[in-house]
Amino acid sequence: NLPNVLDILGKSYPSDQLTNITPAILSKVGRDLHNTQGHPLHFIFKRIESFFHRSYVKRGNPVFSVYSNLSPVVTHEQNFDSLLVPQNHVSRSPSDTYYINSTHMLRAHTSAHQRDLIRSGLDAFLVVGDVYRRDTINSTHYPVFHQMEGVRLYSDFQLFSNVSDPSSCSLFESGKRDDSKQEQHSLETSKLLEYDLKSCLEGLMRALFGQNLEMRWVDAYFPFTHPSWELEIFHQGEWVEMLGCGVMEQRLVDSAGASSKAGWAFGLGLERLAMKLFSIPDIRLFWSTDSGFLHQFRDKHFEDEISYKAVSKYPQCTNDISFWIPDDYTSNDFYDLVRSVSGDLVEQVDLIDEFRHPKTGRVSHCYRLVYRHMEKTLTQEEVNMVHREIEVSASKQLGVEIR
Ligand code: PHE
Repeated sequence: NLPNVLDILGKSYPSDQLTNITPAILSKVGRDLHNTQGHPLHFIFKRIESFFHRSYVKRGNPVFSVYSNLSPVVTHEQNFDSLLVPQNHVSRSPSDTYYINSTHMLRAHTSAHQRDLIRSGLDAFLVVGDVYRRDTINSTHYPVFHQMEGVRLYSDFQLFSNVSDPSSCSLFESGKRDDSKQEQHSLETSKLLEYDLKSCLEGLMRALFGQNLEMRWVDAYFPFTHPSWELEIFHQGEWVEMLGCGVMEQRLVDSAGASSKAGWAFGLGLERLAMKLFSIPDIRLFWSTDSGFLHQFRDKHFEDEISYKAVSKYPQCTNDISFWIPDDYTSNDFYDLVRSVSGDLVEQVDLIDEFRHPKTGRVSHCYRLVYRHMEKTLTQEEVNMVHREIEVSASKQLGVEIR
């Protein structure tokens, strides 16, 4: 039920066999929550921007330039190849990514802009924007969310400026790649970048959550950084992953025309930060157009202390659905269908049973759908109608057979 030509942010894209974006997703493109005055995601963006502008100043001007208006429509090449993501990497699968067609997609991360911004001559920048991923449905996952990317490059002169004998250091060598460095980087380069990156991000988290924040670094893997880490913070009794980062792959930096420099990059999720900082219990609330939610932020300044008071949780209704699945089925197809049919009425979907028929070999899935409106009480009748519509659409569009 998508037209042959998709009109997205004023440009036309012919659909083809790879197209898998849905009208529900398309309706989110261009909402621009992160640039909307009085929106909690805008506050988080401004708090982080303000930290960078306060902390990094060069001759009276901010070191980092900020981009918050880059189109979320990017090429597969920008989102994957430019970042050295292998051809067979899971993130490229149509079950994980929203493809517009065989050349374009909705960006899955703000890293998609790294190479092009470096190419344009920048060596310190932040990118804020909406990103899109096919995923499960629950209170912390939504197929659209927001990220902030940060990149900083250094020449040898800048990186070694505090070393007592800078002439004895060089950025590059032709050595071996190991856990602590890339083959082209000298150990000093890798270690100084690691130190600079980690102190920057620890400083940011302390600025947001308070000086006594407990944090820990966990080794990670990304195709476009090495070494790579995730930063976890201890918040309300549990460790929460906040961001991914690392020393940028030199091949990437070279391909962006900055081969005399080396640098670091990070990417963090704005919703997760906002949910922790403002006590927002459900990720769907960011998309609410009801005044109950937005009112609590509207007249605030981004640095004000804000704690969201839940308007009250309305009761939930649970309904199960079971069906035989066809061979080419993935659960994310069903989650997208649920979002398309129900809007945000379904707050959680769990695969609660998977069963293979011993004789026919057919596979059946049973999902539990939790219905809850954020702004009113749903009647059983309303829920049944939507549930019935989900059953009908699932058999029509996904070829499943309701049991
Ligand atoms: N793009 C990565 C993600 O979305 C995060 C990241 C950004 C990691 C920059 C390293 C460097 O998970």
